[in-house]
Amino acid sequence: MIPLEPYYELSDADLDSRIQLAKQALGSECVILGHHYQREEVYKFADLTGDSLKLSRLASQKADARYIVFCGVHFMAEVADILSAPHQTVILPDMAAGCSMADMADLPRVQAAWDALGAIMDVESLVTPITYVNSMADLKAFCGAHNGLVCTSSNATRILESAFAQREKVLFFPDQHLGRISAFTLGVPLEQMVVWDPTQKNGGVEPERLRAARVILWDGYCSVHQMFQPAHVELFRARHPGIRVIVHPECSFEVCRLADLRGSTELIQKSVRESPSGSVWAIGTELNLVNRLKHEMPDKEIHFLCPTICMCSTMFRIDAQHLCWTLENLVAGTAVNVIAVPPDVAALARIALDRMLAVV
Ligand code: 13P
Ligand code: SF4
Repeated sequence: MIPLEPYYELSDADLDSRIQLAKQALGSECVILGHHYQREEVYKFADLTGDSLKLSRLASQKADARYIVFCGVHFMAEVADILSAPHQTVILPDMAAGCSMADMADLPRVQAAWDALGAIMDVESLVTPITYVNSMADLKAFCGAHNGLVCTSSNATRILESAFAQREKVLFFPDQHLGRISAFTLGVPLEQMVVWDPTQKNGGVEPERLRAARVILWDGYCSVHQMFQPAHVELFRARHPGIRVIVHPECSFEVCRLADLRGSTELIQKSVRESPSGSVWAIGTELNLVNRLKHEMPDKEIHFLCPTICMCSTMFRIDAQHLCWTLENLVAGTAVNVIAVPPDVAALARIALDRMLAVV
């Protein structure tokens, strides 16, 4: 294996030309997928870009590529591995590119919550587990095993709707904010939602309230999107009458309610791109995406919704050095940082992912 360290001695120009050369050498053997939060020096080399849902679909459709180099975070690469063909290898350029929200729920604690709920109600016939795609593969497998589904930021409302058509309650993890705003959009009142704190007995909720609840929300959140506050929306509206505010649904319920639009990173990008020249926007999502849109559309006035920097530090771990190192190792015949979900986990997780893909 070629070591990583020397890549940090290279200039930006050298990295660019070596990445380009390695891409050429690999040709159609390798496809680079890039999430919209990736830094520019990596994003510009992506063959295909998207939000989590689009990238999941692309991973399942690019069967000609032997290698999928996933410039995103760990759970996304796991999904690509689960949905891609057996002859394909998925690579995450830096294994430390995780997601702090995904780490807020794990199988032992979700299983413990399921068991605790089972002591209070007939959980298998009453509750559908739904995991946000920002979660570990074994939680997707848990949903596959318990008639549950996966959702993404672009389809959470439709997935909840399909779950409610089957059973009366939902256990939603790990992002409480996405679960709350999506259920509320379907008409579920806030009084019928409870937050499950995994550190407390029965999630810290009285059994009576659990029996009455329609949505049980895991106490998880995105540390990046929680920075956006209602006061920021109000400030921009006061300063720029007519401004349109668009946010990611990982933002708090209050911020989502105050915004004009909310949606996945793909929807945010599309909405701003399709708006007329001269449009004024405030965007509540990760900084790299907002900066890219600003740069791409100088004819529009684009503001970052938060006065401080809200960056996903784990997405940021994928840099040009790791990308170059990964590709040159492939050229030399070594696949580094391979993401391989254990087959038993992948089979069950695939059931929950396929249920999602059948709905949207
Ligand atoms: P999208 O699916 O909207 O791209 O979101 C992924 C994510 O992690 C947002 O924080
Ligand atoms: Fe996870 Fe938040 Fe980063 Fe998205 S922005 S990958 S939810 S930590």
